[in-house]
Amino acid sequence: MPAAPRPILEVRDLRTYFFPEEGTVKAVDGAHFDVYPRKTLGIVGESGCGKSVTARSILRIVERPGRIVSGSILLRREGEGEGIDLTRLDPDGREMRRIRGEDVALIFQEPMTSFSPVHSVGNQMIENIRLHQDVGKLEARARAVDMLRQVGVSSPEQRVDQYAFELSGGLRQRAMIALALSCHPRILIADEPTTALDVTTQAQILDLLATLQQREGMAIILITHNLGVVAEMCDEVAVMYLGRVVEQGPVDAIFHEPKHPYTRALLRSMPSIKARVRSRLPVIEGSIPHPYNRPEGCAFHPRCPDFMPGRCDQEEPAPRPVGTAQEAACLLYPEAAPAR
Ligand SMILES: Nc1ncnc2c1ncn2[C@@H]1O[C@H](COP(=O)(O)OP(=O)(O)OP(=O)(O)O)[C@@H](O)[C@H]1O
Ligand SMILES: [Mg+2]
Repeated sequence: MPAAPRPILEVRDLRTYFFPEEGTVKAVDGAHFDVYPRKTLGIVGESGCGKSVTARSILRIVERPGRIVSGSILLRREGEGEGIDLTRLDPDGREMRRIRGEDVALIFQEPMTSFSPVHSVGNQMIENIRLHQDVGKLEARARAVDMLRQVGVSSPEQRVDQYAFELSGGLRQRAMIALALSCHPRILIADEPTTALDVTTQAQILDLLATLQQREGMAIILITHNLGVVAEMCDEVAVMYLGRVVEQGPVDAIFHEPKHPYTRALLRSMPSIKARVRSRLPVIEGSIPHPYNRPEGCAFHPRCPDFMPGRCDQEEPAPRPVGTAQEAACLLYPEAAPAR
């Protein structure tokens, strides 16, 4: 029997805080999840729960006054034993620059942020390719054109010389995917890759990601508000609330047997699994506390229908196994699986 695949990325108890003058923002406060080759992990949760900061932490591009304060992000390359802890690398150092692009690439929430206004799309792709691969300018250009073609950009020989602002939203998104994929990363982080697009283009982009994943064997971390997209695209799901992963497991288990009251509320707030509409999640009862004032105990307790006074407002639940393949951080469930 072949050995079970090992995760290529293991995030453990990751904490990324911002230290502005007014106080500490615990943007990511105990995130943990695994990413497997060829699989898609969905990260979901309401606005501000730390999804983008988690992505930026993995790539080590958290901006000041933020920094990773603890935890580990283990990247495991094929044939390399124990892997590299990205939290220990110099964010501006050679190794991290190599990892960004070759191992992990990010499609941003807002495509314009990926492109320079003063260089054509093609020149940026060429530069990126030559930074990571030992090829001449002409060869790099041919690869850039080929990649644009693969992501469905028509007339790529002409488009390659255009600037990002000259492209329509859909084309710009495709160009950004081409830029991210131009070095064949093994992990693609797609942060709300389709929010700014109309429904048809959205569907095309998601199909494109799935096709490229098959072809390239990439792992994808898909960050989205849209649970319909998660149902369709993801193998595993991590649900975040106020910087922490409160539940995770296989997509079917999360949708059919959600265990954490927050996951249940999220699913209830979902219009329809089939809807691929561009929508923010309807609001769950109560408002998200400001990250300066994280509630004591379980951070969800002020909004939780299953709140147990004296426990949930005092004890911070650690993740525990629930059901067959899930994990939830909730005091409704016993901490360890019962002995058989
Ligand atoms: N540069 C910064 N300085 C201070 N706080 C920040 C900074 N960037 C992010 N934050 C805070 O960190 C928290 C997490 O933000 P993040 O962008 O990761 O949320 P998100 O889950 O991606 O939300 P959305 O779904 O709206 O994209 C928020 O409270 C946000 O205000
Ligand atoms: Mg975000």
